[in-house]
Order: sequence, then C-alpha cells, then structure tokens
Amino acid sequence: MKKLLISAVASTMLLTAGVSAQEASSEKQAKSAAQFRQALLQLVRSNVGALGAMAKGAIPMDTQTIETNATRLEQLSLMMDDYFALDTSSFDIETEALPKIWQNRADFATNVDALTEASQGLKSAAMKGDESAYKAAIGSVLKSCKGCHDSYKAE
Ligand code: HEC
Repeated sequence: MKKLLISAVASTMLLTAGVSAQEASSEKQAKSAAQFRQALLQLVRSNVGALGAMAKGAIPMDTQTIETNATRLEQLSLMMDDYFALDTSSFDIETEALPKIWQNRADFATNVDALTEASQGLKSAAMKGDESAYKAAIGSVLKSCKGCHDSYKAE
C-alpha cells in the first residue's frame, strides 16, 4: 500500500517536471536548441507560403497541395512543443523567442494545439474536397501563427 502511494507521488512529480521547462546547461546547448526550433519554423513557413497565396487568390486553390501542406503542418506542429522544451532564456543567443514561453508552458502548448487543430481542419477539408471550406480553414492556420507570435515572439 505504502509502496503504491510512493509510486503515485513519484509519477505526479514526473508529470510536473514534464510541464515545467528544463534549463539549458550551456550556451552551446542553448544555441543548438534555438537553431533547431528556428529550422522547424522555417519548414512551417515553407508550407504556409502557397496556402497564403491561395487564400489571397494570387494562385488557384489546389486540393492536392493543400492536403500535402496541411499534413506537413500538422506533423511539424506536433514536434513544436518538444523543440521548445529547453529554456534558453538565460543565455545571450540569437533568438526571437520571448522568455515568458518558459514561464507559461501550458499556455504555449495551447497555442501549439491551435496550429495542430487548424492544420487538421484544413487537411480534412482537402480530403473531403470541400472547396468552399478552404479559404476559412487556411485563415485559421494563419491566425494560429499570429496568435502565438503576438504573445511569444519578439518583433
Ligand atoms: C506556439 C507558438 C507558435 C506558433 C503556433 C507559430 N510560431 Fe512561428 N515562432 C514562434 C516563436 C517563439 C518563434 C521564435 C523562435 C526563435 O527565434 O527561437 C517563431 C519564429 C518563427 C519564424 C522565424 C524562424 C527563424 O528562422 O528565426 C517563422 C518564419 C515562423 N515562426 C513562422 C510561423 C508560421 C508561418 C506559423 C503558422 C503556420 C507559426 N510560425 C506558428 C512561435 C510560434
């Protein structure tokens, strides 16, 4: 009985540790972490360009491209929280990530989820071939970028 209780407490502590941020232990480690998360966001960006152009009517809506890019955005968003897990805020590195990311991990994760859900919505619209839904669904994806940047990214 006692043993059970101890293991329950231990697993609660583990869970808490997962939510709170882990601090980078050296400038080198912080720099790599920033480069990796920026690379991830560059991939996000590369999949958003065509979608933005379609929403504006600059290029025609293309179901296949929408499905491909939305699927990639979904996958990339699922990596995002992990790539932001390391708190790099105590090192003077090149980054636009605001320190409050690591003081508000749960809220940051909610912003990540908004991108995941918007990407899934767009993917499912494309899989159904529901063209009337494309523009609004792309709009939701773009809104999720801005939502997080407004709170957690420096200008
Ligand atoms: C959950 C928060 C969040 C979401 C959602 C998000 N971003 Fe960002 N983004 C950031 C943060 C924080 C940075 C700064 C990272 C750094 O400099 O270390 C950033 C940086 C970037 C960068 C610059 C990367 C570099 O090379 O420095 C681009 C481009 C970018 N985001 C595009 C997007 C696009 C497009 C979307 C939506 C599809 C998006 N982001 C969604 C938080 C987010």
